[in-house]
Amino acid sequence: MPAQIINGNLLSQQLRADVARRAAALTAKGRQPGLAVILVGENPASQVYVRNKVKACEDNGIHSVLEKYPADMSEADLLQRIAALNADPKIHGILVQLPLPAHIDSHKVIEAIAAEKDVDGFHISNAGLLMTGQPLFRPCTPYGVMKMLESIDYPVRGAHAVIVGASNIVGKPQAMLLLQAGATITICNSKTRDLGHHTRQADILVVATGKRNIVTADMIKPGAVVIDVGMNRDDNGKLCGDVDYGPASEVAGYITPVPGGVGPMTITMLLVNTLEAAERTL
Ligand code: GUN
Repeated sequence: MPAQIINGNLLSQQLRADVARRAAALTAKGRQPGLAVILVGENPASQVYVRNKVKACEDNGIHSVLEKYPADMSEADLLQRIAALNADPKIHGILVQLPLPAHIDSHKVIEAIAAEKDVDGFHISNAGLLMTGQPLFRPCTPYGVMKMLESIDYPVRGAHAVIVGASNIVGKPQAMLLLQAGATITICNSKTRDLGHHTRQADILVVATGKRNIVTADMIKPGAVVIDVGMNRDDNGKLCGDVDYGPASEVAGYITPVPGGVGPMTITMLLVNTLEAAERTL
């Protein structure tokens, strides 16, 4: 039996309706949620991502400001912009789109964002809170994945979750969220030997490497939940994930498509985090 598809667009629609309702309630109290998105440079994928983030804000009653800067912007100037946004009462969330140009220290930039406005959840204080089980902001992509598992009532407690990819944006925080939900965790990275040996143990397989077809059907346990975080282009320029989707969906129990899976959920959880940042200021 082919896998059931976890539809990120549909789930996003439901969650965004709740965001829009709560944003309107805050606006009525004179506290419209506000998000600032900063993009430095002309990375084409980043340009699409930030446009989608700003559009989703507009569609759901969240005030948004997009600040675009040239690739040669100095680190000092960027830090100055962040300081101004930290002090701006209309802005409840600040997102600096990654990757940044090589001459800018992204750790320094992330640490400059006020932790209570760090809607990405990347600040070390937010990473520490997440690791110690008291999250303030959950990073948007892993948070969206947890909502997808919830949407199918998946019994995460006691399940074996295998995460392919160990980034600060997805893999590591995903491990923390799944661990807190009671899963047993394996985190694989680019040096892992015999990747398939690990992925075949997975009840829940989260793939976040940015490498097309890194996971093929023979690497999936029959019936597993396969969550594809990848966003790549195939030889025809069509969007695709990290999982060889067609054959994989013949083996998996559940699978997320690309596009229309994790991508919209990441943006939805950014809206949720921004809304909650604004709610906390009341
Ligand atoms: N680049 C890729 N994913 C993300 C994300 O979730 N947040 C930011 N700020 N940059 C990214």
